[in-house]
Amino acid sequence: MEVIQIEGGYPVTGEVTVEGAKNSALKLMAATIMAPGTTTLTNVPNISDVHVMGKVLKRLGATIKVRDTHTLVIDTSNVDKWETPYELVAQMRASTAVLGPLLARFGKAIVAMPGGCNIGARKIDMHILGLEALGVKFEIDHGNIHASAPDGIKGAMVTLEFASVGATENLMMASVFAKGTTTIDNAAREPEIVDLANMLNEMGASIKGAGSPIIEVEGVKELHPVEHAVVGDRIEAGTFLAMAGLTKDPITVRGFEPQHLGLVLRKYEEMGMKVERGSRCCTVSRMGSLRPVDIQTLPYPGFPTDMQAQTMCVLALAEGTCIITENIFENRFMFASELNRMGADIKIEGHHAIVHGVKTLQGAQVKSPDLRGGAALVMAGLVAEGTTTVSAIHHIDRGYERFVDKLQSLGAHVVRKTIEADDEDFL
Ligand code: EPZ
Repeated sequence: MEVIQIEGGYPVTGEVTVEGAKNSALKLMAATIMAPGTTTLTNVPNISDVHVMGKVLKRLGATIKVRDTHTLVIDTSNVDKWETPYELVAQMRASTAVLGPLLARFGKAIVAMPGGCNIGARKIDMHILGLEALGVKFEIDHGNIHASAPDGIKGAMVTLEFASVGATENLMMASVFAKGTTTIDNAAREPEIVDLANMLNEMGASIKGAGSPIIEVEGVKELHPVEHAVVGDRIEAGTFLAMAGLTKDPITVRGFEPQHLGLVLRKYEEMGMKVERGSRCCTVSRMGSLRPVDIQTLPYPGFPTDMQAQTMCVLALAEGTCIITENIFENRFMFASELNRMGADIKIEGHHAIVHGVKTLQGAQVKSPDLRGGAALVMAGLVAEGTTTVSAIHHIDRGYERFVDKLQSLGAHVVRKTIEADDEDFL
């Protein structure tokens, strides 16, 4: 079994450059279905979720060539299927991002119902409700969603009950060829949505308002392939910057837009970190003690749920008590129970985590509960006394490219190794 092993207490300082955003790249890949021909995506992260999305596109009939690791040349001319298999959707919920593109291109799609995952039910009821307003009919049959638009997709006014990232993206893509104009109200505003809208407009779409709560899509006839660079990954960047809050020494991250981490960096300054924002780079360090600060996760530009575990890790060592409220997912505190095994003092009460700061953490054998929780456990290991062994690191590989290499380049004493485990579950 592969694990990441960390010897705590060593300085972690220097510079890393982050990759393109996982949560943009996956949707950009899906959107190539709508522009038959060869689209080139650059700055694509080399992570397992991208590999899974590549399998989904190939299953639909696309061909994909990888050029120097981070460039994908995707030819969707021969995409002639509209069904995504269960085993791929089960592996990665984001596979549902092909729903909108398939409806746009073929007027139909069959997508396996996404199961829940470690952080929650992960339903797609808002995707379905919104698409029904555009004239799409749905049937659920044997765990598959059969979607069809027998009379074509018609522009409409859709108000989302919650600013869902996935629902906003599927509605935006499904309405690109609609007859008339579609307005998405209460749309999600994440930078990855802006990146997707930018590429679709480069392809010939007519989308206005991405990044604001109201997105307007005027139907066009067709899209043409383009070359597009994926926006920098603000969450990978935030993960490395949060480490400086733990280890104190300056860490500089390049390759992303600091304003995409606006509230996160402002909260880190409140916590006592020094933040120096540059053009596509940011340096964080810490002089004095860490101050406790309450956090509540909200849709962008609110505090991102994907930075919750990493920030909890830092607050676990603050001088005092604070409350972290998770408003996006119903089950995203499992990381806390692993961190408590390292000596943290965190109590979970429903959607709230009451974090009592402690002086030190102790190294332990811990298990990644999910992608961001896994990364945060490795972070904790950097400052824990002794050795920390993190298992179930396939979660980390989903969203962090060369995570151990980058940590080693910052001076961390961390290795990736295979160990014999009598009972994998035990670890
Ligand atoms: C995207 O997930 C991201 N994933 C998530 O990142 C991120 O945490 C999330 O947005 C919020 O920012 C990708 O982009 C691949 P949502 P998504 O639709 O689209 C509920 C990571 O670590 N909901 O905004 O699934 C849903 O269950 C991952 O990189 C419904 O109930 O997020 C969740 O509780 C984790 N019905 C909440 O809304 C729906 O129809 C937010 O979901 C849709 C969503």
